[in-house]
Amino acid sequence: MTIVNIDDLRLAARKRLPKLFFDYIDGGSFAEETYRRNRDDFSLLQLRQNVLCNYAEPDLATEYLGQRNPLPFMLGPVGFLGLYTRNGEQKAACAAHAAGIPFCLSTFSIASLADLRQATDGVLHFQLYVLDDRALCEEFLSAAEQAGVEALYVTVDTAITAIRERDVRNGFRSLTRVTPRLFASLCRKPGWLFDVGRGGIPSVRAVEHRTDFGRGALEQAANLSRRIDKRLAWKDIEALRDRWKGKLIIKGILSPEDAKKAQAIGVDGIVISNHGGRQLDGAMSTIAALPDIRAAVGPDFTLMLDGGVRRGSDIVKALGMGADGVMLGRAYTYGLAAKGQAGVDRAIQTLRREISITLALMGVSSIADLKERGSHLILKQ
Ligand SMILES: Cc1cc2nc3c(=O)[nH]c(=O)nc-3n(C[C@H](O)[C@H](O)[C@H](O)COP(=O)(O)O)c2cc1C
Repeated sequence: MTIVNIDDLRLAARKRLPKLFFDYIDGGSFAEETYRRNRDDFSLLQLRQNVLCNYAEPDLATEYLGQRNPLPFMLGPVGFLGLYTRNGEQKAACAAHAAGIPFCLSTFSIASLADLRQATDGVLHFQLYVLDDRALCEEFLSAAEQAGVEALYVTVDTAITAIRERDVRNGFRSLTRVTPRLFASLCRKPGWLFDVGRGGIPSVRAVEHRTDFGRGALEQAANLSRRIDKRLAWKDIEALRDRWKGKLIIKGILSPEDAKKAQAIGVDGIVISNHGGRQLDGAMSTIAALPDIRAAVGPDFTLMLDGGVRRGSDIVKALGMGADGVMLGRAYTYGLAAKGQAGVDRAIQTLRREISITLALMGVSSIADLKERGSHLILKQ
């Protein structure tokens, strides 16, 4: 199969992964309206074509979260990368760092921050789900400090996990151990089974010492999800702001009002996100939410955006509409599941090239130029 774009990586991932893992990555919640809207709303924006602009390779470097990055996107937190390929978190981080961009590790990961630090010395970010067990949260924060994590993302849109109907049909949500049905499904994908299964049943390294979380990734994942603090409130974010000395970002904001509250608390930025259409179905797309949020927080507050990004032109649109940077979710996860580290490299390079060509055809010389002239370059239908 010829891989030309992110959708091809998605198909390759579907071929290699057991169905229940592919559906877990690919799916959204309930009727998957918001999941589709994230993509569809990018298509409602048009790019202005400018010709005879004396072509030179556009400069894709840009600043977000106080750091200069060679590309305007980074790898966001996606749970359980180590279940899609062996050492998945390490492979994704190494691919990000080879491209010079940050990698954000999810709380729900097979590898720990210490494991990642052994694999790579590039820029690491960490995504925190605040658990009702605050002592365990404190352990996560100490581990993040020890690993030299530069930015902490606290995810706030998952107080309760929405129903992802594909997972229910696959019996995925209720799985806590390998059942005969699951075993049969895994055996249908021998390439995946040989890769991931040969190290035995993976487990979540960060909670391995906690027997109350059970044994094996499936049981640990179920317990971790159950332990997310449902009563998390703004005062907890204030406490976290006092506790965490590095950059603090809130992930999962979709309204100008919430963005302003976050700004008032003194966080360093927010990720405009609806969790990739996996939580509140019916919520607006992130690209549609962006302009009002930018207007509310002013030009200097860091706004990252994720959700439905599959094309370089999506990234161009997000930056042109006011985002400082973009975070990838499924786009790189498909690559990882299809081809390991090489697949993540492929996803990054595909998007890099698409951005470059798009900017050149728009007559835009750099990301700085795009950010400056964005309102003139991106047109609403
Ligand atoms: C399989 C999967 C697992 C995810 N796990 C997490 C997670 O552990 N923590 C988190 O904050 N977001 C998680 N997300 C949400 C992503 O960080 C991101 O918001 C979303 O994937 C963006 O949408 P996109 O995949 O359409 O680009 C997950 C998303 C997917 C697809």
